Amino acid sequence: MPDPYIDPDSQTQTAIEAMAGRLEARGADATFLQMIENYGSTLPSDRALTVLDLGCGTGVVIRQLGKMVHPESKLYGADISSKLLVEAAKFSENDEIQWDHISPGSLPYEDGMFDVVAMHTLLSHVPDPLSVLAEAQRVLKKGGKLIVFDADHVSTTYNQADYETTRRIDGILTSAITIHPDICRQLPRLFKAAGYRILDHKVDIISECGKGDFWLSSVHAFAKLMPTIDALSQGEADAWLKYMLQSHEDGTFFASGTYYTFHAESK
Ligand SMILES: C[S@@+](CC[C@H](N)C(=O)[O-])C[C@H]1O[C@@H](n2cnc3c(N)ncnc32)[C@H](O)[C@@H]1O
Repeated sequence: MPDPYIDPDSQTQTAIEAMAGRLEARGADATFLQMIENYGSTLPSDRALTVLDLGCGTGVVIRQLGKMVHPESKLYGADISSKLLVEAAKFSENDEIQWDHISPGSLPYEDGMFDVVAMHTLLSHVPDPLSVLAEAQRVLKKGGKLIVFDADHVSTTYNQADYETTRRIDGILTSAITIHPDICRQLPRLFKAAGYRILDHKVDIISECGKGDFWLSSVHAFAKLMPTIDALSQGEADAWLKYMLQSHEDGTFFASGTYYTFHAESK
């Protein structure tokens, strides 16, 4: 079953609504928002920047970065999904963001145009991450900053009563929602090949024990999305949702996942 983010526009409207709803829900979560603010706060605010959010989806990241950078900065959100860009325009109060519908492959921007390119949970969803990194390197200024934030999907788990069920459902979810579940572990090699120097990296673990919040909202979204993309039957999705809701109610919930933020510089 393919990762629906490879080509969101080929999905049903129900799937698009589930995807857009999930992107906005996690973007409204305080812990998730803090991770965006953490890397946004490393950007200089004393001068105008040209910033590209590549794979912007509904625009969660570029909206947030727009609040943090110099007010005369030029902000771009680019995505291959015209349907998610329609959602992005609805959520945006900031007319200053330019939304660009792009094709996978070459970007419609001049060489050396950007001070900053951000890729927030993009690279785990693209068939050829090296070519995306190389194209971003072309449009970045020399010394320009690349920020890559992604999930280490292979470490995400939603605990069930027995380990076999946990492993089975975790495996199905991981392969259904990403084509590179281990992208964070590949990035040092890919950065080097694409002409970047790694400046630093940061790790955040979101772990919820007893009660769920961030991960519970993802359970609701994935229980809706998985049957629409034939990753889980409706019965399996309902049983998974029921178990996770019950464990949340009775105080035995456990779910955890790891996110990495990489800062790199274009050479
Ligand atoms: C998981 S979503 C992340 C959206 C947004 N960055 C966020 O975190 O809320 C991945 C996004 O990447 C987009 N995408 C997939 N392949 C792409 C490509 N080659 N170039 C640009 N965007 C792409 C998808 O359409 C989708 O909006």
